[in-house]
Amino acid sequence: MSIDLDILLEQAQAASEKAYAPYSGFRVGAALLCADGSVVTGCNVENSSYSLTICAERNALFAAVNMGKRDFLALAIYVDSDEIFPPCGACRQVLAEFSPHLQILYANRLGSILSDLETLLPQAFVLHGQ
Ligand code: THU
Repeated sequence: MSIDLDILLEQAQAASEKAYAPYSGFRVGAALLCADGSVVTGCNVENSSYSLTICAERNALFAAVNMGKRDFLALAIYVDSDEIFPPCGACRQVLAEFSPHLQILYANRLGSILSDLETLLPQAFVLHGQ
């Protein structure tokens, strides 16, 4: 399947507009391309009990798994900032459970960087599929 990362990034940006981030003001959107060609999005959702906050990437992944999808090709992440931010370590670990070869495009208002999960999380800890 040919992957249109530009469209995936637009979907991530649209998802970031749904972010609930009253505490950090840091709005993140993620768009996960599934092997069946569908796209599942997520945004970060914060909480006044701060540690209960969930990142956009895990929200997208958990929604996709809840829809019966377990095989993923690419993830676009958009942060509404001039600074560039790759995904956090917790999200890298959770993504590696399902798709260790995932392409990851992370972007901000100014541009994007294309990478992959093996680069961002080398020697990931996984108990299955070895
Ligand atoms: N956040 C994400 O959504 N993804 C990441 O990879 C890092 C951080 C969110 C969580 C929180 O709402 C805000 O960004 C600041 O940490």
